[in-house]
Amino acid sequence: MHPHFHTLLPKLEKALAQFPIPDQPANLYDPIRYFLQLPGKRIRPIFVLMTQELFRSIEEGDWVPSLATELFHNFSLVHDDIMDKADLRRGFQTVHKKWNEPTALLAGDSLLIFAYQALVQSNTMNLVALIQRFNEMSLAVCEGQQLDMDFSEMELVSVDQYLEMIDRKTGALIAFSFEMGGFLGNASAEERLALHQFGHAMGRCFQLRDDYLDLFGNERLTGKKRGGDIGNSKLTYPVLLSLPHADFHAIWDRKSTEAESRIQDALSWMESNGISHEVEKLIASEMAIGMQLLQHISGQAEAKSKIEEVCKMLAYRDK
Ligand code: IPE
Ligand code: IPE
Ligand code: MG
Ligand code: MG
Ligand code: MG
Repeated sequence: MHPHFHTLLPKLEKALAQFPIPDQPANLYDPIRYFLQLPGKRIRPIFVLMTQELFRSIEEGDWVPSLATELFHNFSLVHDDIMDKADLRRGFQTVHKKWNEPTALLAGDSLLIFAYQALVQSNTMNLVALIQRFNEMSLAVCEGQQLDMDFSEMELVSVDQYLEMIDRKTGALIAFSFEMGGFLGNASAEERLALHQFGHAMGRCFQLRDDYLDLFGNERLTGKKRGGDIGNSKLTYPVLLSLPHADFHAIWDRKSTEAESRIQDALSWMESNGISHEVEKLIASEMAIGMQLLQHISGQAEAKSKIEEVCKMLAYRDK
């Protein structure tokens, strides 16, 4: 990872560890504390702060507001793991597994409130607009999550429908994180829009890589169960590339029976048919679009090249 990532990360972790979460009732707040200290990458607040640095340097009061993106992200993960019936997250038990579903629902809800508490502390001349953009982002994430579930009940969707879904469930928060950096740096509305568009391209790279890692990643690094998306019959991009082939289609259609062997057969088919390479090609083309957009954003040249490097590494990450 870029060295600058490593200078920001310890301070960010410290701010997160110090974020005030009450003690009682323990069955509400313990799961939240548990989840927040799991080893996440923290890339969203990193994006906020690195973007802010295009326009002004980081001050003491900037750490907590940037955490709004991480708190919101953790809210969405706790609920996502219920929806996706996932037992593992960041290499540890998910909240609904370690406790139970009602507890995980409420822990997620409370994380969302904590996100707002962090957000309203933002040092910007446009706080109301920032909160409005956060609200729009939140709804987009819910829309994306609903589409993701709808798709898993459908036979097929187009690549455009898939991209529209990931633009919402994942792209919206990543785009918001870059845009928020613009708000904190008091960038113009035009610059904030450019940051948002750039963030959307990065969001696509990020979710495409997530879908890739679900299939071709190493569980010990991702901390998530390999093939989970196949088990849930998610229409991810690698699956859309595979479904036109009759032999893959036959494996895919073995739903509800022999779940584990269906996953293994689907994975081997994809491995022997070069699907991972095709996914990497789309990531590379979205990255090229993003880098074009980044060229048109103003701000400190050095801060910009740091953003570029971190984004490129994330698009080819293994966890
Ligand atoms: C996982 O996000 C969910 C997606 C939107 C792809 P991350 O890969 O950022 O998860 P953590 O926070 O590092 O665990
Ligand atoms: C995550 O998509 C999107 C949100 C949490 C909003 P996934 O369901 O693919 O994320 P992982 O793979 O569980 O982290
Ligand atoms: Mg999901
Ligand atoms: Mg999931
Ligand atoms: Mg995933």
